[in-house]
Amino acid sequence: MTDRYRSFVNSAIGRQIAPRLGLPQPPVLQRHRVGDPVVDGPVLVGAAPGGRLAGAIARTLAAVGAETWTTEAGDLRQTAADAGLAPKIYADGAAGDQRFKALVLDATGIADVDALGELHAFFHPVARRLQGCGRIIVLGTTPELLDGSARIAQRALEGFTRSTGKEIKRGVTSQLVYVAPDAEDRIASTLRFLLSPRSAFVSGQVVRIMPSDRDPELNWSEPLKGKVALVTGASRGIGEAIAQTLARDGAHVVGLDIAPLADELAAVTGRIGGSAITLDVTDDDAGAVLAERLKADHGGVDVVVHNAGITRDKTLGNMKREVWDQVLAVNLRAPEAITRALLDAGTINRDGRIVGVASIAGIAGNFGQTNYATSKAGVIGLVDALAADVAARDITINAVAPGFIETQMTAKVPLGIREAGRRLSSLGQGGLPVDVAETIAWYASPASAGVNGNVVRVCGQSLLGA
Ligand SMILES: NC(=O)c1ccc[n+]([C@@H]2O[C@H](COP(=O)([O-])OP(=O)(O)OC[C@H]3O[C@@H](n4cnc5c(N)ncnc54)[C@H](O)[C@@H]3O)[C@@H](O)[C@H]2O)c1
Repeated sequence: MTDRYRSFVNSAIGRQIAPRLGLPQPPVLQRHRVGDPVVDGPVLVGAAPGGRLAGAIARTLAAVGAETWTTEAGDLRQTAADAGLAPKIYADGAAGDQRFKALVLDATGIADVDALGELHAFFHPVARRLQGCGRIIVLGTTPELLDGSARIAQRALEGFTRSTGKEIKRGVTSQLVYVAPDAEDRIASTLRFLLSPRSAFVSGQVVRIMPSDRDPELNWSEPLKGKVALVTGASRGIGEAIAQTLARDGAHVVGLDIAPLADELAAVTGRIGGSAITLDVTDDDAGAVLAERLKADHGGVDVVVHNAGITRDKTLGNMKREVWDQVLAVNLRAPEAITRALLDAGTINRDGRIVGVASIAGIAGNFGQTNYATSKAGVIGLVDALAADVAARDITINAVAPGFIETQMTAKVPLGIREAGRRLSSLGQGGLPVDVAETIAWYASPASAGVNGNVVRVCGQSLLGA
């Protein structure tokens, strides 16, 4: 569905009129196209004294061929040089009108309140020097793994990144990545995702990275080559985009949808060289059927995406029990039952990935959606409940929580609420199905072995539940 308002304010005449009338000006977001570089402009890297991630950041920037700048000529420059970079030095005012595509700070060295001044010292001089659709990334240490002043100071980082996401417009996003001790070598897939236009509609998020001893061979252009991915609800909307994106990344996609949508499903899987299963995920034997089919046809499955979902909105006083039950059955009971069945049968291969599709309604609650919000909060509970267990099998489980995404589901929302859903976010617009799909592709990558137990909102930093 087109966002006519956004198209208008980005037209020649709209660009003149909108600022005069004080109207919001949602930018056209830059999105990834096959063959694009990870980051298409200069990246400024800084580090608070005592940090432990500069080397890992530098290795990732070197691997993606980024034009890298640092703020000082000391240790950081040497670390970058060791990674094969020849960073340029940026001193405030000395580099004229130099602008940056991304600002990355290793904040792991911040161990008390006074050291939080490092945030100001690094970002203040360059806050106005970010290009459109630029990136702010702060990397810290998981506060729950620290004590005392360091724990307080690391927790404080979240207020900074969430605020810069709201403050700096023009499609700029801002994120915080908490890296556990000994997980330094696990940041590459997350850093690439957050730097790139693949994360166009993700902002104000906190990602947690854990250590992992899995060291799969990485093929960054086709990370899912040789993998099998099950996507439920794949015949349209977000599910179709997930199927296409995982196939682009090399996976053989097994699309699933209900029998009445068999033709649409076959069209999607046909286009991407995948296969199709028509099945209702709420069937009592759905998990057993899938375990048997995936084992027989593909020897197992590597990526399971529980995307199928429904809404049946009513205020609680008007909601019949059967409507409550339908939504809970599709959105929550089925993902839990299917996940358990596939795990019990050993159908999910080592290095497997399980992904739930929650919603910001499951975080913030929503009028007329007690059933839907309960089911989607439950998807987050599923991630919490299983993360430690699946990690013991070298499998990860994470969820996305989409905000307002332009699909058939949201096209049915009344115009006023639809406009509010689009504009009440830092990026001032709805997302596209591909934005959810790219986030799932990041979780699915073999390089994301340390990304477990996360719930990342794909919502343009919606004010709902912020
Ligand atoms: N569109 C949004 O803004 C938005 C926001 C937050 C979360 N989500 C979630 O994203 C997911 C996809 O949403 P969408 O907007 O693409 O919706 P959609 O209605 O366009 O697609 C959902 C798909 O799930 C399938 N499905 C429904 N019940 C099923 C069942 N019992 N068995 C098998 N398949 C079934 C449908 O046939 C359909 O193909 C859902 O889980 C939804 O709750 C969407």
